[in-house]
Amino acid sequence: MDQRVKAEAGSTLKPIPLHADRGISLDRGEGVYLWDTQGHRYLDMMTNYGVNILGHAHPQVNAAVKAQLERLTNAHQSFDVPARREFLEALASVMPPSLSAISFANSGAEAVEAALKYARVASGRPGVIATHRAYHGRTFGALAATAEAKYRDPFSPMLEGFRHIPFDDLDALDAVLDERVGAVILEPIQGEAGVRIPSPGYLRGVRERCDAHDALLILDEVQTGFRTGAPLAFTAGGILPDILCLSKSIANGLPLGVTVTTPRVAERIPRGSHGSTFAGAPLVCAAGTATLRVLAEPAIHQHAKEMGERFLKRVADRRLPEVREVRGRGLMLAVELKRPATPVIKAMQQRGVLTLPAGPTTIRFLPSVLVQAEQIDQAIGALAEAVAEVGSTV
Ligand SMILES: Cc1ncc(COP(=O)(O)O)c(C=O)c1O
Repeated sequence: MDQRVKAEAGSTLKPIPLHADRGISLDRGEGVYLWDTQGHRYLDMMTNYGVNILGHAHPQVNAAVKAQLERLTNAHQSFDVPARREFLEALASVMPPSLSAISFANSGAEAVEAALKYARVASGRPGVIATHRAYHGRTFGALAATAEAKYRDPFSPMLEGFRHIPFDDLDALDAVLDERVGAVILEPIQGEAGVRIPSPGYLRGVRERCDAHDALLILDEVQTGFRTGAPLAFTAGGILPDILCLSKSIANGLPLGVTVTTPRVAERIPRGSHGSTFAGAPLVCAAGTATLRVLAEPAIHQHAKEMGERFLKRVADRRLPEVREVRGRGLMLAVELKRPATPVIKAMQQRGVLTLPAGPTTIRFLPSVLVQAEQIDQAIGALAEAVAEVGSTV
């Protein structure tokens, strides 16, 4: 090594300030609670943006990860590994038969990236229709499908061929679908946009139009997956996608994403044309299998549905003057305020409840599906106190 370089080595590394600072140093988690380094306890109603669906330090997930850690952590996908096979079996139990081809990724954005590439190669068409306020991640392909200017503008020009139309608007889709469009990409319920549930019939209408124009339907269930009172949110719409993206919740905190598709699409993807060194690592798959085995239990989705209904009813019953609307399905929930959300989120954090924003005036709740009624009520109590406190300061 060059002696001069060696003498100068020793930097102070600081994260590029890409994220808001929540002002807490987190130390550990157990179940639906987190503790900071000073010993304060927080009720976790955000679960790392929807990742820790079974809460923290779940005993079955931890046991599976520890066991796999002792055997084999990583193995390239050119090798067979039992841990990966077991994950495929666990995921297959909730997949419709038509979705039988899968590839692995390390994040939601990567799962979307693969979906867009597969749609292009399978359709042979460059056009993609996405929706206003959609969020699909921040790699260049996923970013081209993401709508918000604040994510796109600093990095323009975007990938070509993407158009955004209003969500939940079939006429808008009719106006843009033509022979250049290879795919339509949608979140079945928009998450970052503030938990926007489309009208009944919308997903079916999109499916019919995609079929009529021979365009592929990509459903991004990175956020909705396993938290809307059913394993997959598209089942409520009575349709099947051609390509499905899952991530966040499927390994309860370890980085795993998947892109699942039909044999018809899969057979057109050339061998070696896509991949990632880490993706589908046995360690991560072991976490995924344990997570999906817990989530295979229908009672857990019934519980998520009931807890979500409790939340919606109890917030509405309080008739909080600062609340414009409360909406959601299962444990994907939002409270839209008549004022900026951030001060209220901070005031809730001071009361020991962690939530997250979804747009400037909306507070999002993405708790674990193991959350209990008294914890839902505690979160609502903190919300009521926080809006009252923040309201009284203006
Ligand atoms: C619907 C949706 N798609 C994709 C992503 C991107 O996932 P990741 O942050 O893991 O890249 C997210 C993340 O919030 C999301 O909500």
